[in-house]
Amino acid sequence: MNSVELIPAGSQYRTPVFERELSPPLEAQESYFVVTPEEERAFQAIVHDDKKLKDLISLLPKAELHNHLEGAVRPSTVLEIAKRDGIPIPESTVEEVAKATSMQPGDDLLVFLQKIRTYAFVFDKKEDISRVTYETVEDAARQNVKYLELRFNPLKQKEKYVTVEEFIESALAGARKAEEDLGVKTRLIVSINRSYPVEAAWRVARAAIKYEDEGVVGMDLAADEINYPPELFADVFKFARENGVHVTIHAGEAAGPESVRKAIELCGAERIGHGVRSQEDPSLEAILAERKIPLELCPTSNLQTGAVPSLGSYPLKHYLNLGIPVTLNTDDSQIFLTTLNDEYAKMARSGLSLSELLQVDAHGLNVAFLPESEKRELRPEFLQGFRNVLQAVHHYGLKPLNP
Ligand code: HPA
Ligand code: ZN
Repeated sequence: MNSVELIPAGSQYRTPVFERELSPPLEAQESYFVVTPEEERAFQAIVHDDKKLKDLISLLPKAELHNHLEGAVRPSTVLEIAKRDGIPIPESTVEEVAKATSMQPGDDLLVFLQKIRTYAFVFDKKEDISRVTYETVEDAARQNVKYLELRFNPLKQKEKYVTVEEFIESALAGARKAEEDLGVKTRLIVSINRSYPVEAAWRVARAAIKYEDEGVVGMDLAADEINYPPELFADVFKFARENGVHVTIHAGEAAGPESVRKAIELCGAERIGHGVRSQEDPSLEAILAERKIPLELCPTSNLQTGAVPSLGSYPLKHYLNLGIPVTLNTDDSQIFLTTLNDEYAKMARSGLSLSELLQVDAHGLNVAFLPESEKRELRPEFLQGFRNVLQAVHHYGLKPLNP
């Protein structure tokens, strides 16, 4: 039997700097979900049928924790806003807009960071920020996402058009409306560009604290990891955490394991954005496994920025086997031209068992920046989704399940 841990045993998500228990588990929820060897075998046949695999994955309720608003804007919205405001852009069709920001072979993180800025004008107006936030949640809903943590840099225009507070309030308004309309629980993470001066990060941290009760749950450090190591921002992140804001940091993507270690030890990162290069240092992997520090993995992004050479050797299963709580994410769906369902399908095809796939999904909810009581409310829907997936496995490849 292969069992999926629905509630993490002991819920011991800790980081060394602060030693604060994030969310003690509540008792009396179903803790395990079992997949039989027959079901696993049937799943391995389904994996080679694109349509069936897609159907199966779309049945899975999912949590997405690493999704940048800037990289998720629909090309059609870019065109509409450009046209409305008379902003000259060279592209005149949705396809051209999509192509202009898509990654090409040989591109790296620095090229990506230029591409993601191409249509920054969509964040100049409060109503547009609300709109793109709403649309991003809507797109996540189409992937059967039930819980979304959406991140953005509220300082990208240097407050020329909207203040940090106005940016956050506009995103919150869009997220709230989307949550009401679409039933996707949505929380926000403010992201700091590591090439900005530390004072800018303090500005964003104070705003995060101000909006903590309204749906801002965390703070992130993003962009050029090679030239701006995490320790430059250690005091800011410590301050944020001491004030109840959760911390996730991009690390181990363009730089190696040392960057991950510093994000954890010096900045108190509770989760790591990517961390895909942690495998270069087994002693770091041991820390991640022991302290149950989650990795927000984004396979297609990693392939396209050159963080990994191929998806054939992608280390998700490796980390999972070590007991590191890995999650699956899109990062920037419109730049990397992917969806969350695609990410799950790619990993399924690369040799994950069904129970491993479900475990990755369960991790997404378990390591969310939500109080345990709110995770608990979402778990029955996830569990029902797992049952529906097993029903589909039986429908496709086995005898019907007994009712
Ligand atoms: N890495 C660094 N900066 C980013 C990323 C990323 O994956 N996505 C958006 N900004
Ligand atoms: Zn990212």
